[in-house]
Amino acid sequence: MGALALGLVFLLGTALSSLGAIPIARQSASVFAHLASRSPGALGQLDALALAGVALYFAKGLCSYLQNLIMAHVGLRVVRDIRSAVFAAIQRQGLSFFARFRQGDLASRAVTDVTALRDAIVLGYSDLLPNVLVLVGAMSYIVWVNWHLALLTMLGLPLVGTVLTQFSTRLRRWSLAIQRQAADILTTMTENLATLQVVKGFGREDFEQARFDQANDRHFLAAFRGAQVQALQTPLVAFLQTSAIAGVLWVGGWEIYHGRLAVADLLAFGAAVGVSVDPVLAVSSAWGRIQQASGALARVFEILDAPQEGQDVPDAKAPDHCSGVIAMRDVRFAYPQGPEVLAGLDLAIHPGQITALVGPSGGGKSTLIGLLLRFYEPTCGEITLDGLALGQLKAGWLRQQVGFVPQDPVLFYGTIADNVAFGKLGASRQEIEMACRAASAHEFIMQLEQGYETLVGERGAALSGGQRQRLAIARALIRDPKVLLLDEITSALDPESEAAIRDSLLALRPERAIVAVSHRPAIVEVADQVIEITGGVVTRVEVRQLAPVAT
Ligand SMILES: Nc1ncnc2c1ncn2[C@@H]1O[C@H](COP(=O)(O)OP(=O)(O)OP(=O)(O)O)[C@@H](O)[C@H]1O
Ligand SMILES: [Mg+2]
Repeated sequence: MGALALGLVFLLGTALSSLGAIPIARQSASVFAHLASRSPGALGQLDALALAGVALYFAKGLCSYLQNLIMAHVGLRVVRDIRSAVFAAIQRQGLSFFARFRQGDLASRAVTDVTALRDAIVLGYSDLLPNVLVLVGAMSYIVWVNWHLALLTMLGLPLVGTVLTQFSTRLRRWSLAIQRQAADILTTMTENLATLQVVKGFGREDFEQARFDQANDRHFLAAFRGAQVQALQTPLVAFLQTSAIAGVLWVGGWEIYHGRLAVADLLAFGAAVGVSVDPVLAVSSAWGRIQQASGALARVFEILDAPQEGQDVPDAKAPDHCSGVIAMRDVRFAYPQGPEVLAGLDLAIHPGQITALVGPSGGGKSTLIGLLLRFYEPTCGEITLDGLALGQLKAGWLRQQVGFVPQDPVLFYGTIADNVAFGKLGASRQEIEMACRAASAHEFIMQLEQGYETLVGERGAALSGGQRQRLAIARALIRDPKVLLLDEITSALDPESEAAIRDSLLALRPERAIVAVSHRPAIVEVADQVIEITGGVVTRVEVRQLAPVAT
């Protein structure tokens, strides 16, 4: 707030020093008259006049420099803060939110549209305000000097005003279209990069190029239409404005001829109209930019104002202790706008046991895991952890109790150690190593030249599928969770690694509930109960009395 007030001071300074040109022009008439008649002291007056002019423009330059500096600071800070708020709003959203927006679109809103907002702030404040002040000052002066002439000048104003409004509505319309097309380009681009291997493998580069060019061309057309409107705006306003000056000089000449106006007054008048030319142009273009920014603002607020899904209830609980007893009672669920995927599911999962989930592809196993993590809320029925409905628990607490290995394990760009420590921020090297040993990853990591400092590449692309899978397991194990949710964790593993991981699970079993989606005999054989899910319902439960497994 302090910075804005200071900015306002310099902004006033800039406006006042612009208006200073008027009295100087007025004074110059008499100074030149004195010079022409060689009256005593005329040269001194000339020095003073020149000095005043230089001082005035120095003051104007200084004020405008400081004002721009302050406004840039304010504007950039706003960009930083809004961007952070947009990112936070996206992070807080439930997963169904992301079915409505494409990734590139979200990214473009957070980056491009937020930048357009800064234009509104910087230009709105530092261009619009001082220029409006100068305009008001110059116009008041004009009225005070000679209101006949002033009336004539101001007749042009409503005309300019109408033209401006016309332009700004068009600009606003086009700017929205342009932002949208730009987001489309970004989306096409990011999607292409994410699927590059498939694109190349299927030889679909040309197809992708055509898809990209389509988005690119649409953006070009929209941007060019916008540019057409903008290009016309400035010369048109300038033409209107210069016509006004010509008219003033013409009528002023007549007034002087008939002895109704002093030359000094016409000079001052001309200066006043002169200093108003720039402001009219600046105001008109700033207005256009602000209109443009309001399009961007709408797109940013669509994210900021989107209802937050999957939020904690006001008095959400975070119990001190978690033992890991899970129950599902008549759970039904459908993805947004999709058919019912879970159709009345009942099951019980106990700590100290391994529960294997089996069943045909598309049966709903991964969906069930997602519900346990509260990625989505069931449409009907209840899921409880230690007897408390998941909806009554703090999502942060719930997920803290859970170690999760997704079916399609994703790693982050960074080192192996970073990726494993993602499960437990600030984990020591010893903890990381222990988790990797349990996940049967330590051996392959030690064979890498850089060991735990090896970079895994974008999304882990520098590793094999099985290696990625094992790191994802280590990432889940390092949390020492009360509930372990493992979705097809051994699908990419050789029998040896699979056996090693099975042994780790058996060692981990006593203190936690382990839910493993798997069809592999190595895992299913050691499970304490096997639950088959077909078409969203439990079709078979097999509870076993297990003999200890020889290791
Ligand atoms: N994000 C989603 N949006 C809409 N529908 C989905 C989504 N994810 C899964 N489905 C649908 O839900 C059903 C169950 O999918 P789910 O992934 O739970 O099956 P699954 O048992 O894990 O299968 P698989 O063994 O192949 O991994 C499928 O018919 C699928 O089409
Ligand atoms: Mg699945």
